[in-house]
Amino acid sequence: MATALCPGSFDPVTLGHLDIIERTARHFDHVIVAVIRNPQKSQSLFTLEERQEMLHEVTGHLDNVSIEFFKGLLVDFARDHGAAAIVKGLRAVSDFDYELQMAQMNQRLSGIDTFFISTSPQHSFLSSSLVREVSKYGGDVSSMVPPIVRERLVQRYEERSSS
Ligand code: PNS
Repeated sequence: MATALCPGSFDPVTLGHLDIIERTARHFDHVIVAVIRNPQKSQSLFTLEERQEMLHEVTGHLDNVSIEFFKGLLVDFARDHGAAAIVKGLRAVSDFDYELQMAQMNQRLSGIDTFFISTSPQHSFLSSSLVREVSKYGGDVSSMVPPIVRERLVQRYEERSSS
């Protein structure tokens, strides 16, 4: 059974992430969405549990997808779970340098290959950080995230502005 990892921070999951997860799920028997526990990014908007809940909800229609947390090296998590591949979305040339470097490092460390899926054009400008920023200032992100995520974003920024 071939298992693939879709790793990331998912703070929060966007339609771009979901597109990559859905397409990966068509090619592999099992997909683990691997949510990093120790992101280098300073402040998370959502807790790990909230991110996991949202991921569970938006991938509920995919029988072969599970959500797990990991910390430390991704390749150690991949080895522990018998994953054959890491799958990443490539949005633009700007993603390429860093993603290639990580893919090569992960290959050197473990022999695990990274497969890149080209992001669907309608999502190529999307990132969790931009979605957070737009949402923070009251912008409409309904075409960028699943409805449940939009609701959580609105709720979180309302909580923050009233505290
Ligand atoms: O959603 P993000 O923040 O772009 O995801 C980045 C992530 C989690 C995929 C990347 O930072 C990662 O794999 N971190 C784990 C630590 C690790 O293995 N570092 C060596 C990579 S070469």
